[in-house]
Amino acid sequence: MAIAGAGFIGAVHARSARLAGGRLVGVAASSPARSERAAASLGAERAFNSAEELVTSDDVDVVHICTPNHLHRPLAEAALAAGKHVICEKPLAMDVLGAQALVDAAAEAGRQAAVPFVYRYYPTVREARERVRTGATGPVRIIHGNYLQDWLLHPEDDNWRVDEQLGGASRAFADIGSHWCDLAEFVTGHRITRVCARMLTAFPERAKSSSRAFEHGNGAGEMREVGTEDAAIVQFETDRGAVGSTVISQISAGRKNQLFLEVAAADESLAFNQEEPETLWRGRREAAIVVKRDAEAMSAAAARYAVLPPGHPQGYADCFDAFVAEVYAAVAGGEAPDGLPRFTDGLRAARIIEAVLSSAREERWVEVPAPETLAVVG
Ligand SMILES: NC(=O)c1ccc[n+]([C@@H]2O[C@H](COP(=O)([O-])OP(=O)(O)OC[C@H]3O[C@@H](n4cnc5c(N)ncnc54)[C@H](O)[C@@H]3O)[C@@H](O)[C@H]2O)c1
Repeated sequence: MAIAGAGFIGAVHARSARLAGGRLVGVAASSPARSERAAASLGAERAFNSAEELVTSDDVDVVHICTPNHLHRPLAEAALAAGKHVICEKPLAMDVLGAQALVDAAAEAGRQAAVPFVYRYYPTVREARERVRTGATGPVRIIHGNYLQDWLLHPEDDNWRVDEQLGGASRAFADIGSHWCDLAEFVTGHRITRVCARMLTAFPERAKSSSRAFEHGNGAGEMREVGTEDAAIVQFETDRGAVGSTVISQISAGRKNQLFLEVAAADESLAFNQEEPETLWRGRREAAIVVKRDAEAMSAAAARYAVLPPGHPQGYADCFDAFVAEVYAAVAGGEAPDGLPRFTDGLRAARIIEAVLSSAREERWVEVPAPETLAVVG
């Protein structure tokens, strides 16, 4: 396997790929010199001169695309055309057309094509999903929560994500709101059908800097205009009669990566907090309990992702490991297990993002096109 883009998430992919039995043939960063440095720090066999060279290289079977968003589509298209299996970071493409083109390209190529919506891989998330699926909660009525971060809190904080040419027209919602919506739909089995959104850009200008994701900016650069949102508030309705809302923000002081999801169903409510993923809150009218991750006390659907004994905390990296292992198993010809996030899920997210952008711009409710059944291999 090989990795294009060697920043925060590229290193996470490298670790998970190795644990899943992958051989890290090479990496590519934004310049040959940076690729050399990345190859040394990640222990890759070689540095590619460019990501374009990497994605078509003869000795690579699986390509991981971990670059800024604007490069996802061209690199994934080139990789699929060269017969590679592809794991492409979210957002899959800059818009719905791009995401649809990638879904079509993956189907035509007959290759595995996955998107790391990795929060699906917490055992507690699987437990919540299983309780909804088996009817233990009763029908879902309200779905709500938030995804809050603070790394872009000040106008001197910056990142390529702020620039719509590199990150896309939506920033906070596409970057982290897409994770929240994927998880909400994954846990409940509902599909968001209509959205009504408001967006906030707290700083019309930010100081240019080259800070990496989740690092504070130094504020040294000149000011530039910002066209992407710092926060979004979205109300929605689902295909099975539920209502919901979510608050998405990259400027919530003190919140680092708080993805919180609560589901209120007829008999039981469930709450999951990504920063405390070892527990699931289950509320009933007579009593509420906090369930700890414990394979022996969980459904088989959840227990399969419990890789450590109870009391030995699992976290984000374990989710990534489980996701990459499933993709590689599918690449090796195995059955792709239920729940593997694919390019079709990336397209789904692109449709929700587009509806949210339109709703905020036009100040009205906007329909989200239904997911069709697409022929994707695996
Ligand atoms: N699934 C998740 O949980 C998750 C988490 C974080 C980031 N992401 C996604 O991963 C992607 C990367 O985000 P990040 O936080 O790692 O960003 P980052 O800024 O830390 O890293 C981006 C990397 O891309 C490299 N790059 C830039 N231009 C390039 C080019 N032309 N060719 C090759 N490499 C190039 C940069 O050198 C850098 O190493 C984004 O699409 C983001 O949405 C996903």
